[in-house]
Amino acid sequence: MKKLLAGLMALMMVLGMAAAFAEGITTLEEGKMIYSTSPDFPPFEYRDDNDNIIGIEPELIALVAEKIGLTAEPLAMDFDGALLAARADLGAKADLIVSGVTVTEERKAVYDFTEPYTTITQAIVSKDGAVTKDQLNDVIIGVQSGTTGQIYAEDNFKNVTKYETYSLAFQALQNGQVDCVLLDDAVGNAYIKRIPGLGAQPTDCEIEEYAFGVNKGNTALVDAINAALKELKDDGTIEAIILKYNE
Ligand code: ARG
Repeated sequence: MKKLLAGLMALMMVLGMAAAFAEGITTLEEGKMIYSTSPDFPPFEYRDDNDNIIGIEPELIALVAEKIGLTAEPLAMDFDGALLAARADLGAKADLIVSGVTVTEERKAVYDFTEPYTTITQAIVSKDGAVTKDQLNDVIIGVQSGTTGQIYAEDNFKNVTKYETYSLAFQALQNGQVDCVLLDDAVGNAYIKRIPGLGAQPTDCEIEEYAFGVNKGNTALVDAINAALKELKDDGTIEAIILKYNE
């Protein structure tokens, strides 16, 4: 009987703590953390054969939400749409964007970013990996609209074609409508694994940091996500998830 009571009390304490963690956190829908995402971005977010959204970030954000006492719910769209959906100044449809988002000064003006959890840099993917960084002015470059890859390509090179998704950009590469796709290296490598005959070349772009972009002003949510991220980093979970999807 004593044991049962002690067990009950321990359970009540745990439940109480979970509630306390979620206390003071407001989201668009109670109990949920809705995230906008563009699931054309393996290994970070993509669809499996059953159309479920899987990858490093859906798995990570689900664990983060669980620690906060919420459930994470994806809202899928193209990247441009996902960026808009998480903006508080545009009447947010999502609490945050989880979509391989690079932290930039411009974006800091419209989101409150969490701590970064991984890094990438831009790479050039082409047939046989033939296109090098010195040739970028003489070729047609495919990019995804709204991305840091688009910004870099348009700032520096002449012929840039934008696509709503990377799936479309890579179709264009296979059809010969573009000569290369400029994108985050980890994602380029994932497409190379999926599509035979492609290869990558490096750029001299800077390192970019990925973080989650939360509705500006929702400090309680940012703080709670950061606390959860820290735990998941310290206990090796983030590293394990990244490794799992890079197998
Ligand atoms: N990291 C790049 C950016 O922030 C590309 C992100 C694209 N994400 C996606 N899920 N398609 O602009």
